[in-house]
Amino acid sequence: MELVNAAISAVHGYVPDYVLTNKELETMVETNDEWIQSRTGIKTRHILKDKDKATSDMGVEVVKGILEKSNTAPEDIDLIICATVTADMVFPDTANTIADKAGLSNAFGYDINAACSGFLYALTTGSQFIRTGMYKKVIVIGADKMSSIIDYTDRATCIIFGDGAGGVLLEPNHEGLGFQDAILKSDGSGRDILHMKAGGSLKPASIETVTAKEHFVYQEGKAVFKKAVKGMIGTTKSLMERNNITKDDIDWMVPHQANIRIINSVAHGLDFPMERVMLNIEKFGNTTAGTLPLCLWDYENQLKKGQNVMFTAFGGGLTWGSVYFKWAY
Ligand code: UT7
Repeated sequence: MELVNAAISAVHGYVPDYVLTNKELETMVETNDEWIQSRTGIKTRHILKDKDKATSDMGVEVVKGILEKSNTAPEDIDLIICATVTADMVFPDTANTIADKAGLSNAFGYDINAACSGFLYALTTGSQFIRTGMYKKVIVIGADKMSSIIDYTDRATCIIFGDGAGGVLLEPNHEGLGFQDAILKSDGSGRDILHMKAGGSLKPASIETVTAKEHFVYQEGKAVFKKAVKGMIGTTKSLMERNNITKDDIDWMVPHQANIRIINSVAHGLDFPMERVMLNIEKFGNTTAGTLPLCLWDYENQLKKGQNVMFTAFGGGLTWGSVYFKWAY
């Protein structure tokens, strides 16, 4: 039987215009540029200021870019998956709104909520629809308007996160390129260290939850940091072993951009050279589901057909994992 792989055939990204600098954050909370840069590696992050715009609007920009670059008609898209923790509304799914606004009239869509690992979950899921032969054109988006769930009086979180979106088009490949393998993990018992306290069915929004600032990201940074390093190293090592490849066979590592010290530790733990690690945390901060496709967007010109790309991420859930792709163009 012929092997059909799901290959990435186009990439696009979008960040809003407004740039929130460390200097501006100094005027909002007790922090300083030196602390932020040395502890996180972040200099700037982009913020969607327009009150009428949401995660879907960033997703639409990504879809438009993908369609244009790949010369694809909107009605030819079969499926759109949107990874996000900042859906426009609790329901319906943001993917449906993006499809509507971008004119994907024949696509069905759904969201995946796996926080910072969301793009990997969505990329793996989307790839399976191509591999089975069920669909031919699948768009996978990672998009988050983190500014909508950040407390800008909490210096532990407001300095880290930014808004942004990225995405890819998946199409069949008959040369063995594209999706190779994935190891995805989750551990719900770790939900206490990274979550939003209210707004769900457990604790619906009320005057009390708003007053108590429970509609913002709650994170125990140190605990998450340690688990992130261990998790990303673990799944990347297992995935390399399972596919009989070593670090020398990997051309690019694409890590979730949460903290430069986490990325450094993961690279160190894998003895992987930083020259082959994609980085853009300095300018975008942590855009949650957006970081990995935004890296691809930034490095697209340096990627070459046949190169081995190893994605890895960690986030709320807890969720983490690694995905191995062969670049197809
Ligand atoms: O993307 C989803 C997954 N998330 C992550 O991977 C994030 C993982 N965690 C982290 O990146 C880091 O833990 C943070 C960047 C959130 C925090 O860095 P840290 O080195 O773990 O700092 P800390 O929380 O241990 O705080 C150290 C000190 C504290 O002061 P004291 O208690 O030592 O006096 C904090 O109050 O730094 C203080 N601090 C700050 N100081 C200046 C915390 N935030 C700030 C700040 N500016 N913005």
